[in-house]
Amino acid sequence: MTVDRSVFQALETAAANMAPTDPTGVPLRVHLAGLYLSAGDAALALQHATAALAASPHDTTALSVAAASASAAGNEQLAEGYRAVHAALLSGGTAPAEAKTPGSPEPAAPAPTASPAPAPVLDPVVPPAGWDSSDPNLVTLADVAGMTDVKQRLHRSLLGPMQNPQLREAFGKQLRGGLMLWGPPGTGKTFIARALSGELGAKFFSATPADIYGSYFGQSEQNIARLFIEARQETPGVVFLDELDAIGGRRSRRNTDQARAVVNQLLVELDGMESNDGVYVLAATNAPWDVDEALRRPGRFDRTVLVLPPDAPAREALLRLQFEGRPIAPDVDQAAVDSLVRGTEMFSGADLVRLVEAATERALERSMQVGLVSPVTDADLRAALRDTPPSTRAWLSTAATYLAHAGAGEDFDELRGYLRTHKIG
Ligand SMILES: Nc1ncnc2c1ncn2[C@@H]1O[C@H](COP(=O)(O)OP(=O)(O)O)[C@@H](O)[C@H]1O
Ligand SMILES: [Mg+2]
Repeated sequence: MTVDRSVFQALETAAANMAPTDPTGVPLRVHLAGLYLSAGDAALALQHATAALAASPHDTTALSVAAASASAAGNEQLAEGYRAVHAALLSGGTAPAEAKTPGSPEPAAPAPTASPAPAPVLDPVVPPAGWDSSDPNLVTLADVAGMTDVKQRLHRSLLGPMQNPQLREAFGKQLRGGLMLWGPPGTGKTFIARALSGELGAKFFSATPADIYGSYFGQSEQNIARLFIEARQETPGVVFLDELDAIGGRRSRRNTDQARAVVNQLLVELDGMESNDGVYVLAATNAPWDVDEALRRPGRFDRTVLVLPPDAPAREALLRLQFEGRPIAPDVDQAAVDSLVRGTEMFSGADLVRLVEAATERALERSMQVGLVSPVTDADLRAALRDTPPSTRAWLSTAATYLAHAGAGEDFDELRGYLRTHKIG
């Protein structure tokens, strides 16, 4: 996101014209801090966040921006302090366990008025945000083939309530937090997240681990903060964290400072969400067992939806979707499709896409040989099926091991049923 210099100037002038203690200037200063942070000017971002806190020391958004700005400016100690205050405010007075270092004294709450903006240690030029914030409505759930169960569950847990203002009002607190899609690779989790964003008419802010993990100190948690700042500036928005296990992996497992800081910043953002602020948080993972437990607590990613390999109707719909726009021979009739559907148990959506592509390549090769369009035949599809094994088996075996330790739950029961039906584990 690039912001015109004149916007900064206009906002600077407006901020300068307000009395420093005037609390009505807080949203303006927070907004300005966010813009500076996005533009890579950590020192100015911190200066405005600090000014906002001077007028309103308990403003959680200001604290969140102050933490990210301090971190960006290289003052990790100050950032930690802001995060601790933020966490303490949200938990009603006592800082949660993750804000404290075991054995060390309670982190000293910074006195925002007393701490002057530190000199930036880092080069304040931050590379532009790498995430993809694409147009809404490009894909919707109608583009997702089959998956009736998943769609129903998504309607129940997210879309229905979100699209109904009365329900949102009444269940606001329960709707806080994010929704995590999980399941084997290639089953359409990323695709569904994009479709959900389309359903909500929201701008899609998608980040992969590569977008988040930066190469210098403090950059990764800054990236998280900026992702949320940008989404809040253009609501409604969906923040989508793809491969959450790699973004917010268990702090115990990947015990690096960087991974810990990223999870902490993510907790700050999730805990600071309001049900009505127009930002929805979605995540997807193939490895839910590697996601940090703190991220799974109530109010965070506590709603989960399992995305399994497509069932028979979904496979048929997916195959037909793939046939569209390709020359298909008349011998690919209903009976041929039925037989293909039966032969592709446990194929993921991505496997089916690969299968039809492989069949098309055979037809294309033949077409080039004869110099005429030779459509995709039943024989092409069968040959491709022989060469394309389903990719989900390894995942399902791992999941069976995980289930041995997992408790009860809608998703787990569904997975248990699936494994039993397919005699896995
Ligand atoms: N139910 C589905 N409907 C339509 N396309 C699908 C479906 N499931 C998977 N796909 C296709 O498979 C590809 C891989 O899906 P993806 O969303 O990347 O899987 P995941 O994120 O679960 O690994 C998508 O780009 C999409 O083309
Ligand atoms: Mg994916």
